[in-house]
Amino acid sequence: MGQLIQVEATPMGRVAVFSTDRSITGQDGVSVIPGEREGEDPPHDLAARLFGADQQIDHVHVISNTVAVRRMQSWDEEAVERAAGVIANLFIHYGETETAVEADRFEHLRSENYNATLSHIRAHNPDLWVMKVTPDEPIDPFQPGQYTTLALGYWEPRADDAHDALKPDQDQKMARRSYSVSSSMIDESGELLPPHTPDVEFYIVKVKPGQQEIPALTPRLFMKSEGDRLYMGRKFTGHYTLEGVEPTDNVVFLSTGTGEAPQNAMIAELLRRGHEGRILNVVCVRHKADLAYTEQHAVLVDRYPAYRYLTITTREPENEREKVYIQDLITTGRIEEELGAPLDPQRTHVFLCGNPAMIGLPKWNEEGLVFPDTLGVCQQLHERGFTIDHRKERGNVHYEEYWTEKPDSSTTA
Ligand SMILES: Cc1cc2nc3c(=O)[nH]c(=O)nc-3n(C[C@H](O)[C@H](O)[C@H](O)COP(=O)(O)OP(=O)(O)OC[C@H]3O[C@@H](n4cnc5c(N)ncnc54)[C@H](O)[C@@H]3O)c2cc1C
Ligand SMILES: NC(=O)c1ccc[n+]([C@@H]2O[C@H](COP(=O)([O-])OP(=O)(O)OC[C@H]3O[C@@H](n4cnc5c(N)ncnc54)[C@H](OP(=O)(O)O)[C@@H]3O)[C@@H](O)[C@H]2O)c1
Repeated sequence: MGQLIQVEATPMGRVAVFSTDRSITGQDGVSVIPGEREGEDPPHDLAARLFGADQQIDHVHVISNTVAVRRMQSWDEEAVERAAGVIANLFIHYGETETAVEADRFEHLRSENYNATLSHIRAHNPDLWVMKVTPDEPIDPFQPGQYTTLALGYWEPRADDAHDALKPDQDQKMARRSYSVSSSMIDESGELLPPHTPDVEFYIVKVKPGQQEIPALTPRLFMKSEGDRLYMGRKFTGHYTLEGVEPTDNVVFLSTGTGEAPQNAMIAELLRRGHEGRILNVVCVRHKADLAYTEQHAVLVDRYPAYRYLTITTREPENEREKVYIQDLITTGRIEEELGAPLDPQRTHVFLCGNPAMIGLPKWNEEGLVFPDTLGVCQQLHERGFTIDHRKERGNVHYEEYWTEKPDSSTTA
């Protein structure tokens, strides 16, 4: 609790002057009447409390360490005591000790909930990080392409001024989100990294608040620094893996934004295994500055003749006349050109990750597959004879949607 303010009261008819042992305002002074509340600052807060404590009070003027309070009737002993009590308690909410109590509470929540340390941040740009998380206890091996959970408490500060509409007690809970494990693929000398390291790499973009959606985790995550604590799930899971890929198959990775993360982990694995088929990695981003792994890919392209890396942007000045999406690269045949082979469903696996509109996942119903109105890669590949993963049936088109598209009208294939 904060310290009580020492108060001395001098009632004179309808007005009582309360002198305090510390200043509540500057020298300008603040006058407040009932019903008027323009600020969350100490003088307005104090006036609101005085009006609430005594309905006879009709004017409060606060200047420096003096509070002049007017009543509709003269002051009596009980009224003076009540008002002096309200003033004495003001700094319990504004005192430094209160902040310390909150800080203690947050530290306690962190130590109870967090199990890992943000051990390294490579800020490719202020809104796009490659980060490493070191768990307190070693984690069991998992497969390239899989994901886990990261979480931070709702009590953590946000990087933006958006307001989460928190339910009661939610400020003690954690905002949890799924994250694919990424990989930097090579070490400083250009050698492929081993599949498992003590820390786990993630590739995360800071999401801006939308008109309807207030992102919960990334605005809090991007307030963190190296050495800060967070929660990382110990279960690594997902079917977005290299299962079923034969050594001579061609493998095509298509992603948008940070959807590149699991592709990197799988590409490193294919190269470690000495994959014999061709590997093409296509990444579509808004701006060139949204590509955090280009240097590593350039090294791999130099070292592994069967590996190709292609990036496209959609919001650079040169895109103003014509925007090209991954789907267009399939339509024009550019993907096959870059792969150096036809998109043959008999010997090709395609991995799609990121923006669900690029993936264009169908709905499965009795009549067949129902694709979204906007053309996605799934429909293009389905029309070329590929089979999309569905429940336990593994096909040769694999996908990881980073969020779910809002429902729209759809067409049947
Ligand atoms: C299996 C899985 C793996 C994922 N892996 C990653 C990853 O490796 N890196 C990563 O940055 N995100 C990843 N995501 C998305 C991640 O879970 C969060 O949704 C994202 O970080 C935003 O969290 P948030 O709480 O700030 O906002 P949220 O409330 O989760 O999202 C708000 C909105 O932001 C948009 N959005 C969410 N994620 C992205 C994104 N990555 N890129 C562009 N727009 C987005 C969507 O419109 C979404 O509806 C993954 C999601 C899933 C389901
Ligand atoms: N990238 C940035 O400049 C940036 C900077 C700061 C914060 N953010 C935040 O990060 C979040 C995600 O941004 P992001 O750029 O990583 O991801 P994104 O919005 O999913 O965009 C990634 C790429 O996918 C493309 N795309 C969009 N719709 C498509 C479709 N139907 N088919 C195929 N491709 C499609 C985008 O093109 P379009 O150009 O057409 O969208 C873009 O090139 C947003 O919330 C944003 O506020 C982004």
